[in-house]
Amino acid sequence: MITEQIRSNIDRIIAKYPRKESALLPALTYVQKASGNNLTKELVREIAKIIGVTDSRAYGVATYYSMFNVDHHVGKYHLQVDTNIPATLMGAVGLFNYLSQKLGIKHGETTPDGLFTLSKVECLASCGTCPVIQVNDVYYELMTPEKVDMLIDSLMQGIMPELPVDYNWGTKCNVLFKNRGIENVKNIEVYKQHGGYQVLKKALGMKPEEIIQEVKTSELRGRGGAGFPTGIKWGFVPKNTGKPIYLICNADEGEPGTFKDRQILAYDPHLLIEGMAISAYTLGCKLAFIYIRGEFGWIAKILEKAIEEAKQDGQLDNVDIVVHQGAGSYICGEETALIESLEGKRGLPRMKPPFPAIAGLYGCPTIVNNVETLASIPFIVDKGGLAFKQWGSPGGYGFKLFGVSGAVNKPGVYECPMGISFKELIEMAGGYKGKIKGVIIGGLSVPILTPEELEKGDGLKMDYESSINYGTSLGSGGVMVISDEFSIPEIAARTIQFYNHESCGQCTPCRMGSGMISALLKKVAEGQGEKGDLEKAIWFCDHIKGNTLCPTGEAYSYPIKTMILKFRDEFERYIKN
Ligand SMILES: Cc1cc2nc3c(=O)[nH]c(=O)nc-3n(C[C@H](O)[C@H](O)[C@H](O)COP(=O)(O)O)c2cc1C
Ligand code: SF4
Ligand code: FES
Repeated sequence: MITEQIRSNIDRIIAKYPRKESALLPALTYVQKASGNNLTKELVREIAKIIGVTDSRAYGVATYYSMFNVDHHVGKYHLQVDTNIPATLMGAVGLFNYLSQKLGIKHGETTPDGLFTLSKVECLASCGTCPVIQVNDVYYELMTPEKVDMLIDSLMQGIMPELPVDYNWGTKCNVLFKNRGIENVKNIEVYKQHGGYQVLKKALGMKPEEIIQEVKTSELRGRGGAGFPTGIKWGFVPKNTGKPIYLICNADEGEPGTFKDRQILAYDPHLLIEGMAISAYTLGCKLAFIYIRGEFGWIAKILEKAIEEAKQDGQLDNVDIVVHQGAGSYICGEETALIESLEGKRGLPRMKPPFPAIAGLYGCPTIVNNVETLASIPFIVDKGGLAFKQWGSPGGYGFKLFGVSGAVNKPGVYECPMGISFKELIEMAGGYKGKIKGVIIGGLSVPILTPEELEKGDGLKMDYESSINYGTSLGSGGVMVISDEFSIPEIAARTIQFYNHESCGQCTPCRMGSGMISALLKKVAEGQGEKGDLEKAIWFCDHIKGNTLCPTGEAYSYPIKTMILKFRDEFERYIKN
């Protein structure tokens, strides 16, 4: 039941948004938490009434997002083990089995005492520190069987233990990571002692057109995956429509293999806030949002605190920033699905055009940019667009964060000049661990490369052009290194299982196709494959590509097809004669 106290807190959530419906997700999250991590149909109905949406809409939303437990009781501690590809490369499957045996429960089950529920989940944006277990809101990273024993013993005594880990990071450019080593730079005073908010001051003395011109000159391309030129996107925003203009920072960080944005969000939140304040001023935006994945609840708190500090300090007099948490849906990283989600709906991508810059949030002009993109803006405004071009080449300019996971000695996040050789990036990450079988360089949605392909010509460079010339894409810069200990057919089967799970279901080729390919590759990976199965899988890949509403169909069909084609012999060995 929703008490008076809960009701007044929901009213406070509603007050943050221009439209009430946007409060649906945060209200569901809040009530679930207040109700012992569980929701019921009755609670969903009550929330629907408060928010002013139909019961069916609220129920549709509550059952769309994987973090809501509607009429599915979970125990006091929900242990969620990520088993996506980077996690698998770092031993997560063995760890899940260990936990499963220790607790005597399987995926989706709860111990008879109601203390623990065990689930396999998808990538938690912690790929460099996998295996990771999320217990309720808390991440436990670099887990081992010994640490699992400690964790469970502690939870049985009712204590959430602290098991902190160190993150590997490095920088060759010292821009996005210039503050990474400064203790407590998330505190505004420390940030300001290191020059923080000076560029915002400078920007407020410039004309918005001048700033857009600098961003255009820099040729900065969006760091969320698609690589669209930021200055050009900003230039699409129509003027004098009489409608508000919104800016949304995409902090969904959902692409498996990607764990770079959280290094800014959690360690240098004011850098992002300063970048957003400059961008909002440039675009004429008075209200901005940070859409952050639901699993990053603890980072959302850091951001809210930093925003409050910035407000108190007078840095946000021109724009208000609201932190909005998602609730577990990979597709909500796609900008139009994200906008739907922020409007309190299921995260279903919209048909484009119209593009968000013309008609986005609430039908108003909206710019969606990735965390890293917005955090790059202060440098460009401070030093000028040309200074950004001191790094890179026409194939891609500036600095970029690369997350490297899998078979390397120092998995972590590295800030490098665009166009750095793949070889040098791997050296920064401590070099290969073992013999390498394949590499995926831009998050799970890009085609795999073999070690021989990486070496061709002058060797792969980490930029937009070179990656395309090598038959893949830079994507989000999430590099996954696969050693010869792993089977590509098994990796392919797990990859398509992820996309099938995440498909929003709007288009039949994506929904059905991912299910068909998943069934075929599962059969193959389990040694039950038959002659013709690989051709069928390739046929589906060919017929999905280009026939879906959002890029997701393409994002898996081509990578899966290249895995089959490039590792055909290995797949064939799994096929029964
Ligand atoms: C399925 C899917 C998931 C995506 N996930 C993310 C994400 O987690 N973070 C992100 O910034 N962009 C993501 N994108 C890209 C966004 O749609 C969009 O291009 C980006 O946020 C724009 O910002 P940028 O121009 O600064 O890169 C995703 C795209 C697709 C198709
Ligand atoms: S391609 Fe897939 S994820 Fe994208 S809209 Fe269609 S069904 Fe949804
Ligand atoms: S966090 Fe484990 S796979 Fe990304």
